[in-house]
Amino acid sequence: MSPNQKELRIGLVGFGSMGKTHAYAIHNFPYYYQPMPYRATIAGVCTTSYERSVAIAAEYGFARAYHTAEQMIADESIDVIDICTPNELHYEAVLAALRAGKYVYCEKPLCVTAQQAQEIAAAERESSVFGGMVFNNRFMAPIMRAKQLIGEGRLGRLLSFSVSYEHNSSTFADRTPGWKQTAAHGGGVLNDLGSHVIDLIYHLCGEFDTVQGLSQIAFPTHDGWQTDADEAFYMTARLKNGACGTVVANKLATGANDDLSLTIFGETGSIKYSLTEPEWLYFYDRTRPSSPIGGESGFTRIECGGRYPAPGGGFPSPKATVGWLRCHTESYFRFLECVATNTPFSPSLSDGAYVQLVMETARASAARGQRMEVTPLA
Ligand SMILES: NC(=O)c1ccc[n+]([C@@H]2O[C@H](COP(=O)([O-])OP(=O)(O)OC[C@H]3O[C@@H](n4cnc5c(N)ncnc54)[C@H](O)[C@@H]3O)[C@@H](O)[C@H]2O)c1
Repeated sequence: MSPNQKELRIGLVGFGSMGKTHAYAIHNFPYYYQPMPYRATIAGVCTTSYERSVAIAAEYGFARAYHTAEQMIADESIDVIDICTPNELHYEAVLAALRAGKYVYCEKPLCVTAQQAQEIAAAERESSVFGGMVFNNRFMAPIMRAKQLIGEGRLGRLLSFSVSYEHNSSTFADRTPGWKQTAAHGGGVLNDLGSHVIDLIYHLCGEFDTVQGLSQIAFPTHDGWQTDADEAFYMTARLKNGACGTVVANKLATGANDDLSLTIFGETGSIKYSLTEPEWLYFYDRTRPSSPIGGESGFTRIECGGRYPAPGGGFPSPKATVGWLRCHTESYFRFLECVATNTPFSPSLSDGAYVQLVMETARASAARGQRMEVTPLA
């Protein structure tokens, strides 16, 4: 660590899917960002039980486990409280952290009611620190590019929009219920997926003026349990700038995995984006000349992929697809799994040798200017 590099000590509250995701991000910062302007360290973790927190700290190499979020917040050595707990628990933890002078990184949604949110905003104003929300979709490169295009006025006056976020998770009758299926725990799809897409419209298009909502529970009773939390939520909205559109958050979307689609239509241009195609932003520029057989009009596919501003963006190369690092991780993990159990790994060195043979044959074919058979060396 360089002497000028400030150390930021982070305490993780909750270590389910998002606690892991945040820890993964923190551990990997030095690979993605060079030079690192600060050093981020996971100082400790706190989950539902102390025993579980101790086990997690040991497994993931965190310095310590805490009994409660309160104990962690009271620890003078911690700079940032990272809240990854079920929604109903955010309110108290965010307030306590701000009042203790800790920076807060809070998973969406901020809390469960607008009254709670107002209290948090007031506490933040009165404190010497601040918090940040995890609206991670803002940091997909195509969304960053969309923001830039709208900011430059390339879409002109915004007219209309549609955004939908679809999962299939409420369509399985035999699924085990969790806090996300219980309204009292801050569950429901509007809080869950809806908060993401409402934020995207707010971020890209502006403040909301009026909304009309429709909530749906298609499976109130599953095998032996009941849900009172919305499974789909549909909303029409008018923004303060006059643009109108629809916002859909839907976990009754049979066949959908993590399908976020966004379209924004302006007077001089439009954009389209899909989370399932994270490399691209589609942009229609109405000022491009049209002609009887098309001219230059039509949607342009802008490559965004991993093009992040400095000090990020150098690793992995922006030309790598968004899933590139993930497949490296899978490949290496499976190889070591085979080593651990002393079973052969595929792709094997023989597979490598075969590819070598094909390359050599192709090279020879190019040199001779004739088609050649790929035959193993004698
Ligand atoms: N930004 C995103 O992409 C995204 C995705 C999924 C969930 N989320 C949000 O992240 C938050 C967590 O969701 P998740 O999917 O990780 O949930 P999860 O159920 O997988 O994990 C919740 C964690 O909180 C812990 N916990 C529960 N009560 C606690 C307490 N009193 N003190 C300390 N820890 C406690 C649990 O032990 C568990 O480790 C939610 O607010 C959710 O809306 C965000």
